[in-house]
Amino acid sequence: MELHGATALVTGTNRGIGHHFAVELLRRGAKVYATARRPELVDVPGAEVLRLDITDQESVEAAAAVATDVDLLINNAAFTAGGNLVTGDLDAIRLTMDSNYYGTLAMIRAFAPVLARNGGGAILNVLSAVAWTTVDGNTAYAAAKSAQWGLTNGVRVELAGQGTHVAALVPGLIATETLRDFAANAGVEFREGALLDPADLVRLALDGLEAGEIEILDRIGADAKATLTGPPRAFSLEAAAAA
Ligand SMILES: NC(=O)c1ccc[n+]([C@@H]2O[C@H](COP(=O)([O-])OP(=O)(O)OC[C@H]3O[C@@H](n4cnc5c(N)ncnc54)[C@H](OP(=O)(O)O)[C@@H]3O)[C@@H](O)[C@H]2O)c1
Repeated sequence: MELHGATALVTGTNRGIGHHFAVELLRRGAKVYATARRPELVDVPGAEVLRLDITDQESVEAAAAVATDVDLLINNAAFTAGGNLVTGDLDAIRLTMDSNYYGTLAMIRAFAPVLARNGGGAILNVLSAVAWTTVDGNTAYAAAKSAQWGLTNGVRVELAGQGTHVAALVPGLIATETLRDFAANAGVEFREGALLDPADLVRLALDGLEAGEIEILDRIGADAKATLTGPPRAFSLEAAAAA
């Protein structure tokens, strides 16, 4: 997809990877709706800022009613409560599913007709390498990301007829505050260079989108995909931090 002249909507742009998506899309000549639950925190000069909570159906529908010229939807926003599936709090597990799976799905259902009216366009869902492995201490998040992978593959088949390109970005360890906090709580220290800069990830993602890829993987994402041919293996944060 040609990004110059495209109109993109990005979820969760007040921080982390979403902020970098909005900035880089503008740099490549796209119009950008930079959305967030708290729009007052969005700092992306040149973007149109919209309030959007992806787990609130009214908010999702309101965004789709305003951003009628969108031809690229980037589902980046996600909340991760952390915790494991067997011992973790069930409400926290549901919250993690709500944003990663149902929030992404709500956005796709609301924007599929918008994309169709604008010539098909594209959807990019931000998954995680743990979708293909898992990670002890955060198995609920990993399972939600696995579900989001299944969702991505299903939607790709369903929207092929309207010409919508559906892609997945599958990152490993990205240097955002959320990851650093999670690692600090787990007592993990990262070796210099173990984390990918979010700006580099976003450039990789948008290059992949422009090249028409359906799965865009960083190094850890590619390693995780390779494990699918063998027995399931858990991702080790400690090993990745030292690699
Ligand atoms: N960082 C990594 O290492 C890594 C690795 C693999 C995949 N990922 C994925 O990359 C994406 C971004 O991660 P990140 O590290 O940039 O996360 P982050 O810094 O924690 O940012 C998450 C963003 O999502 C927003 N958000 C959460 N729930 C929302 C909701 N219901 N409606 C709208 N916005 C919501 C947050 O807004 P608030 O500020 O309002 O909470 C924030 O803007 C996520 O899908 C994550 O799973 C990250």
